[in-house]
Amino acid sequence: MWPRSSPSLVAATTLLASMPSVLATSASCNSTALNTTLGLYPITVENTTVFDVAKATNRGVCDIGRYNLMADVTIIPNVGQTLVIPPEVCDPDNETCLLPNVTRTQTCINGGPRLYYTVNGDTLDIVARRLNITTASLMSDDTAYTADEVLAPGQFLKVPLCSPSECTIKPFTLEFGVYKDIADEYDTTVGQIMMLSPTYNYSTALLEGKGRPSLDLPFNCAATSTNITVLS
Ligand SMILES: *[C@@H]1O[C@H](CO)[C@@H](O)[C@H](O)[C@H]1NC(C)=O
Ligand SMILES: *[C@@H]1O[C@H](CO)[C@@H](O)[C@H](O)[C@H]1NC(C)=O
Ligand SMILES: *[C@@H]1O[C@H](CO)[C@@H](O)[C@H](O)[C@H]1NC(C)=O
Ligand SMILES: *[C@@H]1O[C@H](CO)[C@@H](O)[C@H](O)[C@H]1NC(C)=O
Ligand SMILES: *[C@@H]1O[C@H](CO)[C@@H](O)[C@H](O)[C@H]1NC(C)=O
Ligand SMILES: *[C@@H]1O[C@H](CO)[C@@H](O)[C@H](O)[C@H]1NC(C)=O
Ligand SMILES: *[C@@H]1O[C@H](CO)[C@@H](O)[C@H](O)[C@H]1NC(C)=O
Ligand SMILES: *[C@@H]1O[C@H](CO)[C@@H](O)[C@H](O)[C@H]1NC(C)=O
Repeated sequence: MWPRSSPSLVAATTLLASMPSVLATSASCNSTALNTTLGLYPITVENTTVFDVAKATNRGVCDIGRYNLMADVTIIPNVGQTLVIPPEVCDPDNETCLLPNVTRTQTCINGGPRLYYTVNGDTLDIVARRLNITTASLMSDDTAYTADEVLAPGQFLKVPLCSPSECTIKPFTLEFGVYKDIADEYDTTVGQIMMLSPTYNYSTALLEGKGRPSLDLPFNCAATSTNITVLS
């Protein structure tokens, strides 16, 4: 339903237009019975996750994430935020927006930036996964945290930089989707997109017909020498 190779910056209207065919392909799903009403879900209880909201509304966590232009669905919403609940579909997507748990080997990022601003629910392991570096490389710093300890939001973590290396940075507009969609398309990391827009979490622009968020995209991030040292 969301193949890796498909363009991520599809307009919401394109997605909505494609839904009837998606529904038609699900033999066991009664599409007439689906709730196609858009809704709003106010977050009133601390530590309510996007996964909790998905369960409560019978929507896919990735469908909610993409409709709310989220940086990452694993960021825990703040109390007082309101999420848009997209139309119910026959095949809720709970998978394709999650970063796969693969073995990471890199110990530094290419091009920067240097500082990661923590958001709700972050652990060193989650941050390292978003940056595609080993968790140990974030811990080798003088940080006193364990890999899975929940970090207070709003703190800066220094990220090891491969030196010399560089990225190209260009502005872009998040029309639809989550950062992972953009990262996959431009061969960059969710963490580096987050680092360039440190306070962005999500947007209800799609529902309100407002302007989409303008962000900075790091891409072509690479070492500029074969002799690399890690700046910690
Ligand atoms: C599909 O859902 C509609 C509306 O809830 C219901 O009227 C209809 O009988 C259902 N059809 C089947 C085949 O279950
Ligand atoms: C349909 O979904 C919306 C959004 O979650 C919700 O507000 C509404 O109560 C739902 N309607 C029914 C009949 O379940
Ligand atoms: C929410 O999570 C944070 C971090 O894990 C924890 O410190 C806090 O006590 C939790 N709050 C509630 C109400 O569970
Ligand atoms: C995805 O999540 C929804 C709502 O939380 C759930 O109803 C559905 O069964 C899940 N689908 C899969 C394939 O896990
Ligand atoms: C990731 O995979 C490793 C080994 O494959 C496993 O030990 C670890 O618990 C997994 N982490 C998560 C968050 O699923
Ligand atoms: C993550 O890094 C590994 C090398 O450690 C690389 O093979 C892989 O393509 C990278 N994945 C992403 C999504 O950047
Ligand atoms: C995003 O969430 C973090 C905490 O997780 C918060 O510090 C920041 O202000 C939020 N940004 C916006 C624009 O709400
Ligand atoms: C690699 O770079 C380091 C630091 O810039 C330097 O000290 C070292 O001599 C270089 N090694 C080689 C083989 O060029």
